[in-house]
Amino acid sequence: MNNIVYLNGNFIAQNEACVSIMDRGFLFGDGIYEVVPIFDGKPFGFDEHMARMEKSLAAIQIKNPLTHSEWRKILETLVIQNNKKIGNHALYCQITRGAGETRTHSFSSDLKPTVVAFLTPGSTHSVTELSRGFSAISVDDSRRRDCYIKAIALLPNILHMQEAKLKGAIEAILIRNDETTEGTSSNLFIVKNKKILTPPLSCHILSGITRDLIIRLAKENNISIEEVKITSNMLKTADEIWVTGSVKEICPIVVLNEKPVGDGKVGAIWKQMIQLYEACKQ
Ligand SMILES: Cc1ncc(COP(=O)(O)O)c(C=O)c1O
Repeated sequence: MNNIVYLNGNFIAQNEACVSIMDRGFLFGDGIYEVVPIFDGKPFGFDEHMARMEKSLAAIQIKNPLTHSEWRKILETLVIQNNKKIGNHALYCQITRGAGETRTHSFSSDLKPTVVAFLTPGSTHSVTELSRGFSAISVDDSRRRDCYIKAIALLPNILHMQEAKLKGAIEAILIRNDETTEGTSSNLFIVKNKKILTPPLSCHILSGITRDLIIRLAKENNISIEEVKITSNMLKTADEIWVTGSVKEICPIVVLNEKPVGDGKVGAIWKQMIQLYEACKQ
């Protein structure tokens, strides 16, 4: 199947979409991305994703080549042209610094950014499937420092995720100096004694849109929640563990490093939170 994608102003067939080998995204991973979930043709949290895109762009000194309404139009056009009005999808957006004349680490500010967007599969698990729970592993976080930027350079994330996959796990939970940060493509929550805990934002964590939503939903519904450092021992002894993201949604982890989390079943607080989250999607 040949999907329609967006590249630098044009909607074209995926197999015709090409960028220069001098593109700094290709040479250096010099660019950022964003992923906007789409449920039945409608974006979820669009403004929040655009705001985070601006933050990532500002951090690497690229001006957004498109307005937010132009991004929305691209999303709508891709949904229509690819016939994706039903089901779960996501818009992948990528902006790189563009192609220079030669390969040099430093960059000139007049490069024309390369803009790419296409649809990718969205959440694949129904709530019933999520309710069975998943396994995860924990590993040493080998990423660079500035993880708050949604940078396309994801080699450590890829290697950690591959290790998880080979062990039959859905995610690798990253630990830096005995503190958990997040997953390779998700944020982390644990529940201890009916209280939800999540690591506070720092340069080592991406400010997840799903994370923000969960914090808001907990506060609005008087569910106890705190942003607090989570040590590896707290992770090991948690009653519940969740990993969250726009595509993963709220994924309960019932096995960590081959050992049951709590009683080895999805927990009561997850059941409460997934209902609140699903209601928001309506
Ligand atoms: C490293 C990392 N942390 C957290 C998240 C979750 O962010 P969001 O909820 O905005 O999808 C992602 C999503 O891809 C991610 O890559």
